[in-house]
Amino acid sequence: MFKLEEKLRPHLLALQAYSSARDEYTGKEGMFLDANENPFEWEGLPGVNRYPDPYQQKLKELISGIKHIEKEKIFLGNGSDEAIDLLIRAFCEPGKDSIIILPPTYGMYEVSANIHNVGIKRIQLNSNFQLDSQRILVEADDKDKMLFICSPNNPTANLIERKAILDMLRQFKGIVVVDEAYIDFAPEGSSLIAELKNYPNLVILQTFSKGWGMAGLRLGMAFASAELIRLLNKIKPPYNINLLTQNAAIKALSKPEKLNQWVGILLAERQKLQEALQTLPYVERVYPSNANFLLVKMAKAREVYHYLLDQLIIVRDRSKVILCDDCLRITVGSSTENIALIKALENYPKQ
Ligand SMILES: Cc1ncc(COP(=O)(O)O)c(C=O)c1O
Repeated sequence: MFKLEEKLRPHLLALQAYSSARDEYTGKEGMFLDANENPFEWEGLPGVNRYPDPYQQKLKELISGIKHIEKEKIFLGNGSDEAIDLLIRAFCEPGKDSIIILPPTYGMYEVSANIHNVGIKRIQLNSNFQLDSQRILVEADDKDKMLFICSPNNPTANLIERKAILDMLRQFKGIVVVDEAYIDFAPEGSSLIAELKNYPNLVILQTFSKGWGMAGLRLGMAFASAELIRLLNKIKPPYNINLLTQNAAIKALSKPEKLNQWVGILLAERQKLQEALQTLPYVERVYPSNANFLLVKMAKAREVYHYLLDQLIIVRDRSKVILCDDCLRITVGSSTENIALIKALENYPKQ
């Protein structure tokens, strides 16, 4: 039986969380002389003189409706990067514990672990970019407190097989974090969110930075058991989501059709870009994608990268990343951007 209190760092059990002014008085009415705020308002920036809702209740209500998940199972972070950082802080003892990552994958799991002096066990994806459950189970030991699975994976763009993730949820002894940053670009039903009720060791990360088009707001979501979310709330900085971000996201969430519209356009563009890239003589392979980017294997990837850079077309050089030799990672842009990219690539190496 999974018991959260046995997994988290022992000193956190007794941690007294900071009690903010807005924790102590949660009413909306009254004269607020309790938080040492400035009573004067900025013109054009209503409300920024006051601290924001520390638990983002209104925003979570909207997310709860859209994602069909109880408010108590939602944590909001200053980007999902904040959730990654807090999860490592919650479960891994510096200098002692470690996380398991599955390269090639998103770089922040490793960076966050390094910041906290937490060990990193790397268990490479297989040549199909799928996880090797047997190897993970053989190599995992009691010090490995968390397993990070990125699905769709960055930079390989593919979903990790559901069955393999479920196997990990059943057999890995620690917390399994499934990073679904790109899930809006994957077929419907790909998310593991509905599995939360079955697996108390599951944490799902999603973000407003990709499909929702709000990378500049810095707003990420973690979904997990209410118990685990309470723990994250206890260790987070009190007002981690600023007022402007909360207000802007509330506004955006009242127009969910925008997400569908953008995702529809980007998926059609992804298809066109994929087909166009495949016709280029020096392109060896365009990997299938369930995300808003393509991993493209080509001769002389690094040269092509610099050729594009000279024309101020900036893609990501992944050619030195394990299993991604000779690969560039290309974000699907607008139709105009994609046409310009293809035109430039058709002219390579003629100059
Ligand atoms: C897999 C993955 N997770 C998380 C993030 C970061 O998301 P956020 O902008 O919410 O911090 C990224 C950003 O590129 C990503 O690729």
